[in-house]
Amino acid sequence: MASSDYDLPLRPRRLRKTRNIRRMARETRLSTDDLIAPLFVMAGDNQREEVPSMPDTYRHTIDRLVDHAETLHALGIPAVALFPALPDHLKTPDAEHALDPDHLYPNAIRVLKDAVPELMIITDTALDPYNSDGHDGIVRDGRIDNDATIQVMCEMAVLHAEAGADIIAPSDMMDGRVGALRAALDDAGHTDAAILSYTAKYSSNYYGPFRDALDSAPEDKAEAPEKDIPANKDTYQMDPANGEEAIRELMLDLDEGADMAMVKPALPYLDVIHRVQQHSDVPVAAYNVSGEYAMIKAAAQNGWLDEKACALEALTGIRRAGADVILTYFAEDAARWLEE
Ligand code: PBG
Repeated sequence: MASSDYDLPLRPRRLRKTRNIRRMARETRLSTDDLIAPLFVMAGDNQREEVPSMPDTYRHTIDRLVDHAETLHALGIPAVALFPALPDHLKTPDAEHALDPDHLYPNAIRVLKDAVPELMIITDTALDPYNSDGHDGIVRDGRIDNDATIQVMCEMAVLHAEAGADIIAPSDMMDGRVGALRAALDDAGHTDAAILSYTAKYSSNYYGPFRDALDSAPEDKAEAPEKDIPANKDTYQMDPANGEEAIRELMLDLDEGADMAMVKPALPYLDVIHRVQQHSDVPVAAYNVSGEYAMIKAAAQNGWLDEKACALEALTGIRRAGADVILTYFAEDAARWLEE
């Protein structure tokens, strides 16, 4: 039977016939412009340590971080999101170290800004790297104290902006933090520091490898039951079952002055990315988190998946869902792959 035996005037395969026609018909493009590289910084000199559950991802000392950032900048990556890995002895229940103007994190921001001024620096304002309880906020009487946490975060944000941060990213999910941060930054004269809000951040199990990287897992910190520390983040991060609630969070963040809105994680929440994008008049970011990275890496190491093909497909899917930019541990590799 010849292929014209059926009377089919509509044949979608026409647009898939050759590589060039597929290029013309392509709806979504992944570009290095869309990639943000998360980076882990640790104390010390001239060292890097691989995160065991995140193959090919490292904690760098500041000097090595600069080399790495120069590479990312040369590849065309526009921004990095910086996270500090601190030793346990610097972590306290009130997270005071977060406000030390001379600690690892502001120092890293200053050195990076000086070395690669064009590379946008996104800083994290949440207390988990500094908190001996492993929480993003201050724990009082077994609960996360919303307003006390925001006060510390406002001081952190000003410290980060003073050190040279371009974009402040609250990843804590306290109520009202975007408005409070905006006011604090403006009062301190940092009217140009943008806020990338973690708008819809879910209480996800896919953060496991990141918590390994920072040694910040609340279930480990909460081991002693007499301390009355919640073993998970369910009272502030969102319930994975909720989608509509992301729009409520978005409306609040936009009202409070967020410049960009993030959904996190990405792959199990593509519908949320889509909904947020439909309702948002600011750019939408998605965080392709550590566990999503680890899954592809582990399968690739076993020879079960093709790492490059699967990573690019995942990132394209996140863009197709509606994300304008993607925080991903694949950023450097993806930038290289996109150059090929
Ligand atoms: C904490 C924070 C987390 C991540 C970014 N900031 C983990 C958490 O909420 O416990 C996760 C990122 C990742 O898994 O890649 N403020």
